[in-house]
Amino acid sequence: MQFLKPYEIGSLNLKNRIVMAPMCMYSSNNEGLVKDFHRVHYGTRAIGGTGLIIQEATAVTPQGRISSNDLGIWENDHIPGLTSIVNLIHEGGAAAGIQLAHAGRKCEAENETTIAPSALSFSTDYRMPEEMTIEQINETIEAFRLAASRADQAGYDLLEIHGAHGYLIHEFLSPLSNQRSDQYGGSLINRTRFLIEIISAIRSVWPEPKPLIVRLSASDYLQNGIDLKQTMEIINLAKASIDGWHISSGGLLNAPIKTYPGYQVGMAETIRHTCQVPVIAVGLINSLEQVEEIIGNGRADLVALGRELLRNPYWPIRHLAPNTPNENLIPEQYLRGWSICPPQN
Ligand SMILES: Cc1cc2nc3c(=O)[nH]c(=O)nc-3n(C[C@H](O)[C@H](O)[C@H](O)COP(=O)(O)O)c2cc1C
Repeated sequence: MQFLKPYEIGSLNLKNRIVMAPMCMYSSNNEGLVKDFHRVHYGTRAIGGTGLIIQEATAVTPQGRISSNDLGIWENDHIPGLTSIVNLIHEGGAAAGIQLAHAGRKCEAENETTIAPSALSFSTDYRMPEEMTIEQINETIEAFRLAASRADQAGYDLLEIHGAHGYLIHEFLSPLSNQRSDQYGGSLINRTRFLIEIISAIRSVWPEPKPLIVRLSASDYLQNGIDLKQTMEIINLAKASIDGWHISSGGLLNAPIKTYPGYQVGMAETIRHTCQVPVIAVGLINSLEQVEEIIGNGRADLVALGRELLRNPYWPIRHLAPNTPNENLIPEQYLRGWSICPPQN
C-alpha cells in the first residue's frame, strides 16, 4: 500500500506517510502543563501506527494561548511534561513533532492583553488587540526561539511553526489583518518578514538535521486576502530553510468555504509541483482510498488526518489485513490481533 512507504523529511525517517494533524485538546491547566490525558491521547495514536504525530498548538507565551487550557512551552518547567509525551510517542514507534503557536488576536485566555500586527479584532465577539510595537515583535520572535530550544531539549524530532488559521503569523501575512506602515507591513516581502525572522531565530537553536516545517493557510477565501499565488510567493521567500509545508486554509476571518472530501489537496498539489517543495495534505481526508490516491499520484508527500484519528486512533494498523502481521507497524503486544489462528490463552 502507498501509505506504508517510508519517507525521509530532512534527516528524519518516517515509517509511513500518515501524520496526525495538530489538534488543540484544551486539556491543560492555566499553567500550560501536560496532563495524563495528553500522555494517553498521543501515546494511543503512536501505538495505532501513525508515522508522525504533530502535537497540538503549544503556546510560546501565555498571551499566545487560544484558551486558558492550552499546552505551553514558554518556560523551562514545561520541559519534563513535554518530554514524557515524546517518550511515549517514541515507545509507540512514531516520530514526535510539536506545533509552536501564538494566537495573536484570537487569544481568549483569561487576564491576558491581546496583541496583533494591527488593532483590528477577529470579530465583535473577540477582544480588540493592541498593535504590536517593534519591541513586542522582537520579544515574540525571541519567545519562538526559546520555545524551539525547549522543544529540542524535550526530544521532539520535528518542529512545525503555526502560520495558519488566522493566528499571529497568519495575521502578519494577510493584508486583511496587517495594515502596518513599517517594515512588517505593506508589501508581501514586508508581511513575510515576521515569519522569516521567526524561522531564522528558530534555526539558530533547532539542530540543523532536525526538520522544521511551516503550516500555512493557502487561501483566506476573501477578496484582497491571501490566495494560492501569494502563498507560493511566501513559500518561495522562505523555502531555503524549511523542510516541508503543511497546507491548510481559512481561519483569518469568517469566509464562505466550500468543503468536500480532500478540498485542500489541490492547493497542496499545486504548491508541491510549482514551488518544488515537500508538502503535507490535510482536510477531510478520511478513507484509505483517498490516502492511496493522494500518495500514489504524487499529489502530496505526506497525508495528515485530524478528526479521523480522533474517531479512530488505530487508523493505520486497522487497515492491515488479518494474517499479514506487519512487525514494523503493529506493536509486538498486539500482533496476535492479526492472527486468524484460534487463540490459545
Ligand atoms: C479539535 C480540533 C483541534 C484543532 N487544533 C488545531 C491546532 O492546534 N493547530 C492547527 O494547526 N490546526 C488545528 N486543527 C485543524 C486540524 O489540524 C486539521 O487541519 C483539520 O481538522 C482538518 O483536517 P481533518 O478534516 O482531517 O480533521 C484542529 C482541528 C480540530 C478538529
